[in-house]
Amino acid sequence: GPGIAAEHIPRLTERFYRIDRSRSRETGGTGLGLAIVKHIAQRHGAELRIESTVGKGSRFALVFPANRVREARLLAK
Ligand SMILES: Nc1ncnc2c1ncn2[C@@H]1O[C@H](COP(=O)(O)OP(=O)(O)OP(=O)(O)O)[C@@H](O)[C@H]1O
Ligand SMILES: [Mg+2]
Repeated sequence: GPGIAAEHIPRLTERFYRIDRSRSRETGGTGLGLAIVKHIAQRHGAELRIESTVGKGSRFALVFPANRVREARLLAK
């Protein structure tokens, strides 16, 4: 995306929070997506980290504690 100014980052997970209301109306969406992500992460003891630079882009990371992670079991062929 276009990158997110630092002052908006702490508010992105608030329900219905959208940076640009007019453009958001064109692109659709409810403003609930990241609020839901944060709640799901909390249920897993995980943390949602958002890093962003205006004009460059954003990185959204879910960081899980080691005891909530296990190796994926390979599916039998
Ligand atoms: N990758 C991104 N780059 C720039 N801004 C973003 C990005 N992701 C989210 N945002 C900003 O954060 C706001 C909240 O995002 P969120 O995902 O919670 O809602 P949404 O995408 O507007 O709607 P939806 O409920 O469909 O996900 C967005 O409206 C947008 O302003
Ligand atoms: Mg979204």
